[in-house]
Amino acid sequence: MLNERNPIIDPSQPMVYQIRIKGHLSHQRADWFGEVTITLEEDGNTLLTGMVIDQSALHGLLRKVRDLGMPLISVNRVNNPSQANASIVQKNFISSNQNNLGGILMKAIVWTKYGPPDGLQLREINKPVPRDNEVLIRIAATTVTTGDCELRSLKIPVLFRLPARIYNGLLKPKRITILGQELAGEIETTGKDVRLFKQGDQVFASTGLSFGGYAEYICLPEETNMGVLAKKPVNMTYEEAAAVPTGGLEALHFLRKGNIRHGQKVLIIGAGGSIGTFAVQLARHFGAEVTGVDSTEKLDLLRSIGAVRVIDYTREDFTKNGETYDVIFDIMGKSSFSGSIKSLKQNGRYLIGNPGLTQIVRGRWISMRSTKKVIIGAAIQKVEDLVFLKELIEAGEIKSVIDRRYPLEQTAEAHRYVDTGQKKGNVVITIGKNTNI
Ligand SMILES: NC(=O)c1ccc[n+]([C@@H]2O[C@H](COP(=O)([O-])OP(=O)(O)OC[C@H]3O[C@@H](n4cnc5c(N)ncnc54)[C@H](OP(=O)(O)O)[C@@H]3O)[C@@H](O)[C@H]2O)c1
Repeated sequence: MLNERNPIIDPSQPMVYQIRIKGHLSHQRADWFGEVTITLEEDGNTLLTGMVIDQSALHGLLRKVRDLGMPLISVNRVNNPSQANASIVQKNFISSNQNNLGGILMKAIVWTKYGPPDGLQLREINKPVPRDNEVLIRIAATTVTTGDCELRSLKIPVLFRLPARIYNGLLKPKRITILGQELAGEIETTGKDVRLFKQGDQVFASTGLSFGGYAEYICLPEETNMGVLAKKPVNMTYEEAAAVPTGGLEALHFLRKGNIRHGQKVLIIGAGGSIGTFAVQLARHFGAEVTGVDSTEKLDLLRSIGAVRVIDYTREDFTKNGETYDVIFDIMGKSSFSGSIKSLKQNGRYLIGNPGLTQIVRGRWISMRSTKKVIIGAAIQKVEDLVFLKELIEAGEIKSVIDRRYPLEQTAEAHRYVDTGQKKGNVVITIGKNTNI
């Protein structure tokens, strides 16, 4: 894509934009672009040339291009209208933003290949344009989760590898090209039908399976069944808020499925990670007596967030110490299945966050044949649950645990760190300035 910068620009002069799209525009669709010159090029592309009055006029034009469903090749500002290879029909002009081709490009970390973190590359790409029901968010912070790393490297259960490639591109990522499942930032503009949010609102969100957090901007529907969006907790920075949605919602979902109640004994395995640190705090909030299991370096952290007992899985096997629990939440799905079932009380619940095929099959069997229940499956994210977490945060009941912070440019480095497994809680990516609001 062409993205030449124009260092010397007089904002009082009309600015011409050229938008090149793949394929020839049909006569019927040409009516959509009444005030723009349309050139059907010999190589099969279409060049739209015209002047725009401001940012929103330009965004309107780009929105029409997107609605055509024809791939966008490039957007260029032409300093000298005589450079434009088509005549200009009408003066509508001017983009006053001097940066970044009038603000139509943004920085993003593009995921270019399955495998190691070096496939994550900093690029300038088109800034998204919100649809009528969407908000445009200037992202201030996002995170690198273990889930992002697993998808990047396709280190996921064998059963899911081929479906993941079929969904996202057999040889390289095509559908999801920007990772990052959660974020916090400020709403820059809203589509005309948006009612729940306004420009300037500080928000946090999970993008669900659409990802897209490793970028300066993202468009999200104000209401969606793919991800969730809400006002951010007032007592959190953007960095802290960005780390809440995916881990917090996952933990809440499972603990509710576990029917967790006051006074119960709860064992959380993998308690020092993104989901685990929220699970420990939420279980404590629900009045449970929490035992956290993780590796040596994470045990002090677990005590500090409310675990009354801790077990170092590298030195002790919890299935052999004679203790039994009302709820066992195995976040990584790595503990012994039969040992965990034995460590459950009668009517106890065994929650598995990341189950393999045999755990799924054995879980069904146990659930049918005994009073113990095995619960698997991913969280269905609901906006009311994100608001519930926001209220708990504002009441001082839970907080996010942040291990390291990296700027957007060093996202690949952040992935390398998360790949080591040493992460405590969350790793945050900061974007631009003002992350401490
Ligand atoms: N993050 C999300 O929001 C999300 C959402 C849906 C599903 N998931 C899936 O859920 C899993 C966990 O996610 P996460 O983000 O919480 O991961 P995480 O932040 O990496 O935390 C996992 C924790 O488990 C510990 N651990 C590893 N093996 C263990 C074992 N045998 N016994 C006890 N602890 C063990 C790890 O410590 P050591 O490395 O030091 O051993 C680490 O502290 C991932 O597979 C992810 O794909 C995550």
